[in-house]
Amino acid sequence: MLSRPRRNRSSAAVRNLVRETELNAGHLVQPIFLLPDPNARLPVRSLPGTFRMGIEEVLREIEQCREVGIHSFMMFPAVPQEHKDKTGTYATADENFYLHAARAIKDRFPEVCLISDAALDPYSTDGHDGVVIDGRIHNDETLKLLDAMAVAQAQSGFDIIGPSDMMDGRVGSIRRALDKEHLTETAIMSYTAKYASAFYGPFRDALDSAPRQLADVPSDKKTYQMDPANVREALREADLDAAEGADYLMVKPALNYLDIIYRLHEAHPLPIAAYHVSGECAMLLAAAERGWLDYEQAASEALLSIRRAGADVIITYFAKDFARWNQARPF
Ligand code: PBG
Repeated sequence: MLSRPRRNRSSAAVRNLVRETELNAGHLVQPIFLLPDPNARLPVRSLPGTFRMGIEEVLREIEQCREVGIHSFMMFPAVPQEHKDKTGTYATADENFYLHAARAIKDRFPEVCLISDAALDPYSTDGHDGVVIDGRIHNDETLKLLDAMAVAQAQSGFDIIGPSDMMDGRVGSIRRALDKEHLTETAIMSYTAKYASAFYGPFRDALDSAPRQLADVPSDKKTYQMDPANVREALREADLDAAEGADYLMVKPALNYLDIIYRLHEAHPLPIAAYHVSGECAMLLAAAERGWLDYEQAASEALLSIRRAGADVIITYFAKDFARWNQARPF
């Protein structure tokens, strides 16, 4: 036997020498669910270890994350029912606690990177990312609302706008709206290939944002989110987003879609983001709670695999924990 691949696995030092993929905290984004009450801290039942927090708690959380090397955060508002309506008016309201929170975070920590979520669902009584008119999701009316939302978010200090709605033409529309307000430095992280996935459950629990079960409201998001069966459609979406001025292309979810991450990474020079979504994290946590998997080892392997597939940026509920483990690891 002339070739013995095991020689290159013979010790930790050797394995380190030949390691092809590195993952460090710098690539990770921690999602944050924000509540209006400044001191609130409520667990998300279906995602152990994740909390919905008021701004005071969030500031503490960000401080802890920064200590372990996490400097980027994706924020989602948990909007009380009384502020919701069909067109998401509260999204751009002066008193919007999400916008105020962004300002407070950037005042305290100017160097962190804050990513917004631009979609109607947290604000919508229908629970949809677009506006529902006559029982259908109206694409072009939604664009106007998204433009206004993105401008309000950028003016409040968000560094990157994250349109997660999957309406046609929204990246270009938001880019133009931002530029018109001289917000040329605000980037767009487009949810390029966002699939109509069964893995968003805990997130919808956290925000109480599931599509409503009403006769005149579509009961799922399949007319705008993508069919999990499709790859070439993701390439088409990527071409459009790149042409419309996106700064990042995102694939979501991540683990079941590693082939999509790989394909977009091969096809486009833009940075690729992958959203390791709530249900993917919840699955692993549930198995760990039962003692069926080791949380640290399984989560680290999942994140490394997403990176290996070609993700530059990984949005994951495990960001802070991973960063902690990574600090502690001698090798
Ligand atoms: C909606 C949005 C969703 C997620 C991020 N933005 C849910 C949905 O499309 O219904 C899911 C993220 C997760 O599951 O962690 N704009």
